[in-house]
Amino acid sequence: MISNPLLETRNLTKSFRGRKIVDNLNLKVMKGDVYGFLGRNGQGKTTTIRMITGLIFPDSGDVMINGYNLKTDFKRAISQIGAIVESPTFYDYLSGHENLSLMANLVPGLNKSRIDEVLEIVRLTNRAKDKVKTYSLGMKQRLGIANALLNNPQLIILDEPTNGLDPQGMKEIKEMIVQLSSEKNITFFISSHLLHEMQQLCNRIGIINDGKLLVEGSIKELVGNPTDNSLEKLYFEATGE
Ligand SMILES: Nc1ncnc2c1ncn2[C@@H]1O[C@H](COP(=O)(O)OP(=O)(O)OP(=O)(O)O)[C@@H](O)[C@H]1O
Ligand SMILES: [Mg+2]
Repeated sequence: MISNPLLETRNLTKSFRGRKIVDNLNLKVMKGDVYGFLGRNGQGKTTTIRMITGLIFPDSGDVMINGYNLKTDFKRAISQIGAIVESPTFYDYLSGHENLSLMANLVPGLNKSRIDEVLEIVRLTNRAKDKVKTYSLGMKQRLGIANALLNNPQLIILDEPTNGLDPQGMKEIKEMIVQLSSEKNITFFISSHLLHEMQQLCNRIGIINDGKLLVEGSIKELVGNPTDNSLEKLYFEATGE
C-alpha cells in the first residue's frame, strides 16, 4: 500500500521583489521520516518553512499537512505541527516553565501537566525554574523543542536546529530527534546546510537550490552504499558546484 505524505507542498512558489525565491516546489515528507531539507545559505529554506507553518502566504501552490490544505483548512492543518523557525525567542527574565505556560495558553484544550512532560522529554526539568537568560544556547534550543512538542504534534519542523551549537550541544539535539522519532513516532522536517550531520540523522532528503528542488529521495536509494561523505558528493553533483 502506498501511503499519503504527512507533509506535501504542491507547486509552492513565492517571489520577493520580482525574484522567485521558492520556485514550484514539490516536497513529500512521509510519516516516520526524519527528512533533511538541504541547501546553502539563501536558497529558500526558511521561506519555504515560513509558508509551511503559515507565517507567510505563497504566491501560488499548496501546502498539505496530513491531507488538510493549509489554505482552506488552516486550523486543522496547523494543529498537526510544532515548529521552530529560525531561533526560538523567549522572555529572558522568565523561567523556562513560565515561558512554556504562556505558550500553552495559545494551545486550545491543553492540559497544563503537558508542560512538565515536555520539559522532562527535553531534559530541562532540573533547570525549569531558572530564568531563560541563564540558559546556554543548546538549552534554549531544547526549550524551543519543548515548545514545539506542547500540542502533541505528529510533525515537527526545525529550521537549522543546530545553528551555533558546539559539538556537544549538536549531539544532544540529534539524540533528542532520534529518540522522539523512534519512541514517539514523530516525523521531522529539518532544514540544514550541514551535510555530514544530516547524513547521520536523516532517512530522506531534499536538496533546494535557487528555490528549486533538485533531488528528493531516501539516502539509501540516492547514494547506494553510503560512506562518510556520500551526501556531500551527491549534493555537489546535484548543484553542479
Ligand atoms: N521578506 C523578504 N523580502 C525580500 N527578500 C527576502 C525576504 N525573505 C527572504 N528573502 C530573500 O530570499 C532568499 C532566500 O532566503 P531564505 O531565508 O529563505 O534562505 P535560507 O535558505 O533559509 O538561507 P539561510 O541558510 O541563510 O537561512 C534570500 O536571498 C533572501 O534575501
Ligand atoms: Mg534560513
